[in-house]
Amino acid sequence: MEDLRLFIAKYLPTKRAEHCIRVSETAARLAKLHNGNVSVVQQAGILHDVCKTMTPDDIQVEGVLEPDSMAAFYDMYPSVWHAAVAPNFVKSKLRLTDPAVLDAIQFHTTGKEAMTLETAIVYVADFIEPDRSGGLVTKCRQLAFENLDHAVFVVALSVLRNLVEKSRPIHPDSVMCFNHTYLKLSKKDRKELTRIVEKA
Ligand SMILES: [Fe+2]
Repeated sequence: MEDLRLFIAKYLPTKRAEHCIRVSETAARLAKLHNGNVSVVQQAGILHDVCKTMTPDDIQVEGVLEPDSMAAFYDMYPSVWHAAVAPNFVKSKLRLTDPAVLDAIQFHTTGKEAMTLETAIVYVADFIEPDRSGGLVTKCRQLAFENLDHAVFVVALSVLRNLVEKSRPIHPDSVMCFNHTYLKLSKKDRKELTRIVEKA
């Protein structure tokens, strides 16, 4: 893991790199509790934001080739782009090819339909890592250790509501993540969890 810490330190400001370490540690705790693959979530947690401060130009300068469509993606979904390009980036720079790690990195911002346990863990860990604060984060942190689907629902709903509030485009994977989780929950749970998000 030390090599991955050094790797992200090359590309990220200290505060962002520290966030990545906290996400990795939080994800490892969740993986132990929910019987997920600890190594996968630790690696994905550390690497998830490696492209966070880059632009399409920066990534080109780094010698990582992205299709032209990714520039349009950046314009449409600027806060998702860093997650979408990160798998290619780590493949090219680290020769890291574990599909489970790459999947968790790629979908840490949007989630997606039918996430693996490890991808769901990183998605939630990014939301609840110890330096995040606020009533919703505190509640979600508690849910994450009790029932991961409940935590995913809260994160997904909160993401959608924030985007709508700011009149920003919503990536289809964010919608699919919410819809899929919605169907997994009972009516009672949906109602209770929605109330938690609405109250925040
Ligand atoms: Fe993050």
